Amino acid sequence: MAPGARLAALEEIPDGEARGFAIRTPRGVVDIFVVRQGTWVAAYENACPHVGTPLDWTPDDFLDRERRHLVCATHGAIFRIEDGVCLAGPCQGDQLEPWPVALREGAVWDASATLPDPG
Ligand code: FES
Repeated sequence: MAPGARLAALEEIPDGEARGFAIRTPRGVVDIFVVRQGTWVAAYENACPHVGTPLDWTPDDFLDRERRHLVCATHGAIFRIEDGVCLAGPCQGDQLEPWPVALREGAVWDASATLPDPG
């Protein structure tokens, strides 16, 4: 998807779940995911701070069984949904890289187009 694209209608991401997207950027395609809690959303790059692999082995499977934390399928690191901080696992204390998104008109939009070009 192009920067600034409409990623999905909010209702297309089930409440308490997450969904992955690929964004075309000047530094190449970046895989991200959006996690939804009611009318609140956050997005992160889909790369574990431990060794950089995607968090989901099964597409769009980013949460633990209880849907309380994000989890990395590779070595089991657990992340806080609200800010991506790793609470337990090999990268404890590190953080998922946040990705800017905006919620408007009932949909989630990529907001990286509003960021300055990193050069
Ligand atoms: S790659 Fe995620 S915990 Fe190791």
